[in-house]
This record gives sequence, C-alpha cells and structure tokens, in this order.
Amino acid sequence: MELVVTGLGYVGLVTAVCMAERGNTVVCVDVDDQKIEALKRCEATIFEKNLACLLRKNHEKMRFTTDFADAYRNATMVMICVGTPERSDGSADLSYVRRAAEQIAEHVESDCIVIVKSTTPIGTNDKIEQAVRARQKNNVRIDVVSNPEFLAQGTAVDNTLNASRIVLGVENERAKQAVLELYRDFERPVVLTSRRSAEMIKYASNNFLAMKISFMNEIANLCEKIDADIEDIAAGMGFDERIGKAFLNAGIGYGGSCFPKDTKALYWLSNFHDRELKTVKAAIEVNERQKLKLIKKAKKYVSSFEDICIAVLGLTFKPDTDDIRDAPSLANLPILLEEGARLRVYDPVGEKNFKKFFAESDALRYCKTIDETLSGAQLCFIFTQWEEIKSYDARNFPAKMRRAIILDGRNCFSLDSMKNIPVIYESIGRKTVDGLSARGNSKHLMDGKGRDALDNCI
Ligand code: UDX
Repeated sequence: MELVVTGLGYVGLVTAVCMAERGNTVVCVDVDDQKIEALKRCEATIFEKNLACLLRKNHEKMRFTTDFADAYRNATMVMICVGTPERSDGSADLSYVRRAAEQIAEHVESDCIVIVKSTTPIGTNDKIEQAVRARQKNNVRIDVVSNPEFLAQGTAVDNTLNASRIVLGVENERAKQAVLELYRDFERPVVLTSRRSAEMIKYASNNFLAMKISFMNEIANLCEKIDADIEDIAAGMGFDERIGKAFLNAGIGYGGSCFPKDTKALYWLSNFHDRELKTVKAAIEVNERQKLKLIKKAKKYVSSFEDICIAVLGLTFKPDTDDIRDAPSLANLPILLEEGARLRVYDPVGEKNFKKFFAESDALRYCKTIDETLSGAQLCFIFTQWEEIKSYDARNFPAKMRRAIILDGRNCFSLDSMKNIPVIYESIGRKTVDGLSARGNSKHLMDGKGRDALDNCI
C-alpha cells in the first residue's frame, strides 16, 4: 500500500520506517527541511536501536518532502504523528494535530483514511473528522481512525514491528477494512473499538504504568525506613501474574515524552469532566518529589553544594535513547548549579541534546568517559542506568573519586558489589552501604564549602 506519514519525530520516523519494512511505500512529510535533507541522505535523525539499518534497507521505498500539498494530493492513507505537547495548564496542545488535519483537508484529491497516531484527548478524533469534512476542498470521502502507538524509546522499532497489540478506533466499515488491511502483515493482536475508546486505551495504559512506577517508588521510600529491600519486594510481587514483573523498578521517577505529559493531560481532562482522577494526581505528585530524592540524600553528607565537585552519570530520561525530555537530570542540575556545585557530567549519547539547555561553563564540564567524570569528585549522582554505567567496575569509584559518596537513582549496582570497598553507596529503597565510616574515615561529612577538593576539581 502507499501511505503518507506526517510528523517525523520519534513516533513518525519509526512508524514510517516500519511501514516500509512491512512492504509499503511511504511518503514522509515534515516542516523541518534540515530533517528532511538528512533523511534524504539516509541519515537517521534520532538515536533509536535498529532504526538506521532499517532506514538504509528501505530507503528506496521512502520519499521525503516538506511539500505538504504534493504529499497529500494523491494520498489515500495519511498517518498523523505530530506531537501533542503539554500546555501550561497541563492540557494537551492540539494545534499541530489540527494544522495537519487542515492541510490534509485542503489538499487531498482522493478518498482518504486519516489515521491519528498522535496521543489525543478523548473526543479529539471526532472533532478532527468533523473539521476535515467541513474544510475539505474536493468532493472526496475522508474517514478518521484512532490508532494510538505504544512504542517505548530505545525499543521503538521492535515495539512497532512486534506490537503487543494494535488498537484501531473506527467508526465505519470502510475505515475498518482499510486499516485491517494495512496491518494484516503485522500478524499482531488487534483491538477493534470506537475512536473514543481507542484514545482512552492509550491514556489509561500510560497512566497505569506511571502509577505503577510511582507506587513502587513510594514503597521503596518506605523500605528505606523499615529496613526492607525494594528489589526483593519487586521480585516477590512480580511472580504474581496479576501484577507482572515489568515496571516495578523503583528509581528517581519517570521522565520522557509521554508519561509526564499524558498523566497531566488525563488529570486535566478528568477535572474538566468533573471526575477527578485522584490516583493519577497522586502518581504525578509522587513523581515530582521522587525526582529530587538524591539531592535530599546528598544533604546528609554536605550542608551545601557550594564548591563541591560532583560527578553526574547519565543525563537521558532512560538508557538507549538520546532523549532528555523531562529527565530527572533536568530537574536536579539547576539546583546543584544554583548552590554553586562544580559538575562533571557524562552521558553516552545525551550530551548533544543536553547542551541545548546547559552550555559548557566553568561550573559544568562535559566529560568523555566515566573515569574522567569521576576524577576528583566528592559526590557522584547516577540518573540513568546505561549498561556502560551498570557494568562499571565499582572498585574504581574510590580509586578515581576524592571521596566516594555515590547516590544512585537507578539501583545500577548490587549492594554486594559495593561491600568491602571504601565508598558510601546510597540507592533507592535499599540499605545504605557505608564502607567509609566503617574504616574510621569520618571525614565524609564535608563542610558546606568543600574547599579541600578544589585542587582536583574543574
Ligand atoms: C512510554 C510507554 O512505555 C510507551 O508504551 C508509550 O507509547 C510512550 O511512553 P517511554 O517514555 O519511551 O515509553 O519509556 P518507558 O520505558 O516506558 O519509561 C518511561 C519512564 O519510566 C522512564 O523515565 C523510566 O526510567 C521510568 N521507569 C520505567 C521506571 O522508573 N521504572 C520502571 O520500572 C519502568
């Protein structure tokens, strides 16, 4: 089949490449001409596992353009994959979806199915269909389908090709047959439902996962007080199939392009309809607090961060992506800098995006290796569980750092690996390992200025 994909962000580009991989011809449209030029040269514009090789493999089946009129003119199927970012009141900004729909209405000259993959508040797709039909220039039939995506960054290609389910919100037989045909070769379970239910499935799924994480984070916080171990708790809970093993990992909170915005958007919507979702509200509040948990822990060891040399490992909101949207690092670094800390930071791929918000300065140095980052540091914050960080030899922390106080927001290391080495290791929902006091090294409580470390610091 031939289809048009509009909006080439994480969802759009992955979808376009996967649709080509399944044998379709795909016209890819975006307003960003630099992105289009890069894609014409076969350069993947995002970091996503297996994307670059599938782009190369299917490049001949794909066309890239900024010319919307040309792309839509003969289209019979258009997938809208533009963003629905958060507005200041928490509701979803639908202006990009609306603009895409208007452009389709203006240019399409054939009967057409518009498939909305963007995450949209319940009822949006009904309005899109009304708006498109009201504005269409030519006498053609346009039907709108809601087809939310469930791809997670880092595994997005696999999540698309081997989707857990394909949700299709359709309102008539013609649209239903067209999208069933489009997804036939995927051979994945299909949930056929109304457009509104499809939109709700997406929000309910993301909100449920966000709640699961916030719940585990609260249990982890309690574990720290009652001397229980969150990893054992998660393992013990996960064997129950009704609970499941996934998304039980406690940490410093969820980030990314979906959970933060989708929880706020659903909460906003629930209030709008006078059905406040209190569970979602709690998940949001817990997450906001959790993001700053390491700073609170660090304050046990320093009264102020002024002139303290801090190593930061991991900047992205999770591993295997270069995305830093709503990453806990973004919430923490301004506080550390504001208090006068001297930061050495490292992320295997997130540096470029992070630099758009935090330029290199006297107080913030970007490092190229973990060893370089740790060199001379008095505290180490871990924000992302990159494999490279998890497999780092823990014995190097005391060797590289001036004082090895490690605050791990992602439980990257086993407690055993920290035993018998001169470090203080604080993680989430687990015992503190204190191999410094145990060795009679009481100097780990630094004064607010931390001047003694300046010689080794940036
Ligand atoms: C998520 C959904 O998983 C996906 O289905 C949806 O389409 C988009 O949103 P994504 O944001 O890419 O995907 O990442 P995900 O792996 O879900 O992680 C989101 C956040 O939750 C990350 O910050 C991650 O570190 C955190 N998380 C995840 C936890 O803190 N604990 C867990 O157990 C799982």
